[in-house]
Amino acid sequence: MDETEFRARFRERCHHTLEIQVYSNAYRSKSLRPDQDKTVQMFLEVWRMRNLPEDLPEFVYANTLLEMARTLIDGREVDLSPYRPQPVSSGELRAFERIVYERRSVREWTDEPVSDEVIKHVLKAGLWAAHACNLQSIRYLVVRESSAPGLFCGSDIPGGPVHIVVLQDMRVYRANPVMPQSNQLLDAGAAAQNLVLAAHAYGLGGCWLTFTSEEMKERIRREAGLPEHYRLTTYVDVGWPDQTPFPPQRLSVEEAVFKIL
Ligand SMILES: Cc1cc2nc3c(=O)[nH]c(=O)nc-3n(C[C@H](O)[C@H](O)[C@H](O)COP(=O)(O)O)c2cc1C
Repeated sequence: MDETEFRARFRERCHHTLEIQVYSNAYRSKSLRPDQDKTVQMFLEVWRMRNLPEDLPEFVYANTLLEMARTLIDGREVDLSPYRPQPVSSGELRAFERIVYERRSVREWTDEPVSDEVIKHVLKAGLWAAHACNLQSIRYLVVRESSAPGLFCGSDIPGGPVHIVVLQDMRVYRANPVMPQSNQLLDAGAAAQNLVLAAHAYGLGGCWLTFTSEEMKERIRREAGLPEHYRLTTYVDVGWPDQTPFPPQRLSVEEAVFKIL
């Protein structure tokens, strides 16, 4: 098993064999089965045998969970209070609403350069989206139009100065073959939604776009030298906005809800 699949399996096993049980029991001050941590312990052993770095996120997370599990197994309380979210103030709530409701698909951009720093903030938000089984398939290809003019031609608009392709490392899905396949696309959708929201929050204008043909994807794959295990799932263009569209109106909640039982 290659390292990517191993790490994804580790994330998935942590999630399904320990994380859910630890939090459920910690909140109810219940002990944990003495062997509840055995799968994660086994993965940690293999991690060490493979000489993988101990500062990678899976390793850090697994150790934190194991510490909590040990505490519960020993019949002690786990203090989760440091992780309790602070209440959202009314000003923060207003900011959240502005980001959600004032975000627009922006399709024209100024020539002002977009720094790597602001792009990284946006990419990070995509990685923090919910992800099925915590498999974390999301990867990116970032292409500045100036460095590859016309590479993204084919969409219905010329596109922005920065193209963010949401890739998915399909090797991670081997870690959980029983997961419904539809979750794979939803993982990318969740990430892309965070990208457009974050772009807006950082003052950028973004537009979620469509690969209109396989030829377009193949052209980008070839040019970027992307290996086969990366799927080009969708993409978002960003830049400094040069238009302020009127919001395309949405259905009301009343119209959208079929039924509340
Ligand atoms: C999956 C997806 C694909 C999209 N593809 C395109 C596209 O190819 N071209 C485009 O101009 N806008 C595209 N959009 C943006 C939508 O047109 C836009 O979100 C919608 O009209 C609502 O407008 P708003 O984003 O300003 O609220 C896409 C959005 C999504 C979610």
